[in-house]
Amino acid sequence: MGEEALLGVVSGKAVAAMTEEEAALELAHLAAEIERHDRAYFERDEPDISDAEYDSLRRLNAAIEARFPALARADSPSTRVGAAPSQKFAKVAHRVPMLSLGNIFSEEEAREFLDRIRRFLKLSAEAALEMTAEPKIDGLGLSLRYEAGRFAVAATRGDGVEGENVTPNALTVADIPQRLKGGPRGAFEVRGEVYMTHADFSALNEQQAAAGERAFANPRNAAAGSLRQLNPAITASRPLRFFAYSWGEAEALPGATQFDVVQAFKAWGFQVNPLMRLCRSADELLAAYREIEAQRATLGYDIDGVVYKVNDLRLQERLGFVSRSPRWAAAHKFAAEQATTILKAIDIQVGRTGALTPVAKLEPVTVGGVVVQNATLHNEDEIARKDVRVGDWVRVQRAGDVIPQILGHLPERRPSGAVPFQFPTECPVCGSAAVREAHPKTGKLDAVRRCTGGLICPAQAVERLRHFVSRNAFDIEGLGEKQIAAFFEEGRIRTPADIFTLAERDKTSLKKLKDKDGWGARSAANLFKAIEERRNISLPRFIYALGVRHIGETTAKLLAKTFRTFAAAQAALEAAADPDSEAYQHLISVDGIGEAVAQAGAQFFAEGHNREAVARLLEQVRVEDYAEERARDSAVAGLRVVFTGALERMTRDEAKAMAERLGAHVAGAVSKTTDYVIAGADAGSKLKKAQSLGVKVLTEDEWLAMTRTVSVED
Ligand code: IVH
Repeated sequence: MGEEALLGVVSGKAVAAMTEEEAALELAHLAAEIERHDRAYFERDEPDISDAEYDSLRRLNAAIEARFPALARADSPSTRVGAAPSQKFAKVAHRVPMLSLGNIFSEEEAREFLDRIRRFLKLSAEAALEMTAEPKIDGLGLSLRYEAGRFAVAATRGDGVEGENVTPNALTVADIPQRLKGGPRGAFEVRGEVYMTHADFSALNEQQAAAGERAFANPRNAAAGSLRQLNPAITASRPLRFFAYSWGEAEALPGATQFDVVQAFKAWGFQVNPLMRLCRSADELLAAYREIEAQRATLGYDIDGVVYKVNDLRLQERLGFVSRSPRWAAAHKFAAEQATTILKAIDIQVGRTGALTPVAKLEPVTVGGVVVQNATLHNEDEIARKDVRVGDWVRVQRAGDVIPQILGHLPERRPSGAVPFQFPTECPVCGSAAVREAHPKTGKLDAVRRCTGGLICPAQAVERLRHFVSRNAFDIEGLGEKQIAAFFEEGRIRTPADIFTLAERDKTSLKKLKDKDGWGARSAANLFKAIEERRNISLPRFIYALGVRHIGETTAKLLAKTFRTFAAAQAALEAAADPDSEAYQHLISVDGIGEAVAQAGAQFFAEGHNREAVARLLEQVRVEDYAEERARDSAVAGLRVVFTGALERMTRDEAKAMAERLGAHVAGAVSKTTDYVIAGADAGSKLKKAQSLGVKVLTEDEWLAMTRTVSVED
């Protein structure tokens, strides 16, 4: 996938263009999103996005972390393998973690994988290096613990560290032996894949349909849903199978190579995959890959690639692991499946952040067993590059659960009269201009065209309104995302000004807010009160609340400081529409304001809808002119102070932050140079020291009185 796949979800920016603030927001957003998808996938067995979309979220997360290592979060998805185990099953800690495999997508990458292994082991190109190749089963990993040769515990992979105890369910799977024939007497964990055959999957889905139950999306989900049943009787009725291919904790191994251990599994009574091959060179490995791929369609169960493993277990040990996967193994994924069909139309969808995305509407076609009628075209340049036109025969590709892609068109089958696609320059939802930003330095156009009707575009309105009332903007309590979405849906709030006329309109409304679900008279009154309290707003907050692209809190403050009144700021941004104008030059000469801000601001106010929405808002609220922070003439500026004892009106941190904001220096220890010690209750040694040195001691209230002589509101 190309670069454009890695645009930030929140900022819509390429990773290289993100500010630290934006990157932190992206990472927070990604941690929550990926966690949500993990839950859907691992806990409910109902993935809510395609594997490709999921992978690109993870890649975006990794790319941002690579650029801003300091921002990596403790709950970063990069440190997690899957979802935490579901609450309904008891947990099992894996004594040896269950990790995942790195992916290989081409023969070239397969050769590089082998070269890397050789380099790591300092093996020459000629030295023997035996590898195994075997199908990568598309099911779910399971760890089976045997004690004294008897089946003891079955655990799912979970997050790789801790899985779910599904022992009673595993007991019902015929391929899982209860006792190991001639197997080890010590503890031994056999690992492998639970899966369902195509035939069993179809039969199960027919049964589900007959019983009025939901059909499973694919055999893997069916297998997962069947194994993770709280009632083992249901699992027993589902035809699950198991292939053994690896191990966890083992007191002693039954062989010195991967191949021999797996042969031992077979002798113990497990099913092992008959297509496992021993290979002595890259060519042999790739031949095995092709052999397995050739059989894919007739195997009767899903495989999604070929797993390569170093055969010699001592070498495996030397190679070890890198973060989530072993260095000694990798999964060579199969190429996507393709088909050709007719492109009937190109629809333009508008996302929450205003991005216009083209979607191909196709004559339905089966690609790798799945009927496809929509495919992504990514963006405008992609359509132009591939020159796909409505009416064309196009090649469609699907890989796993990925959203299908259009690879290109068939020139020989182009109908006469097919015309190049005109990407709209107006938002199809609200009619505002849709523009592509130019990169301020390189002048390169952004791949994404965006709607500029932020405040009025229904596709973006909920997101904008949510931003408008958020904590650092208008900060209206009681108006959360849910309420905003509901009010928008009902038509009560469409633009920011509507928030401030809500109470008035409610009086004359037939359907009163207090009679609605979830609203009592008290909560409705509280909301109206919270809204009233925000009719006066500081200039930086107001500018920030408008949600203009590239105008975050810091920039909003800078604009406020520079222009002092909203009217002046708006006039400057409007006048900046012409890059040759004086207004534009003045704007970008402000330290911290660049061309991106100037352009975004100018575009925002060039839009009549936006000017009108702002004008209507200004009829409802009063924007305070900007008052310069007066920290420098604060009564406490320059003083050296020490806080000690328990403060009553604020926490120690707050007190410190406030003092520093006012220009005071807060020290941790009392010395002769200390001007004041502010002593709360139970002050101890510092108070004594102050007294002995003759440093002035203030109570908390005395200190506050001293600070109150200044105002530092934004
Ligand atoms: S070996 C240390 N062999 O693929 C790695 N895994 O993406 C041990 N899988 O979690 C895994 N077929 O659930 C291995 N023949 C095979 C496999 C296989 C499917 C799954 C397994 C693993 C995932 C890794």
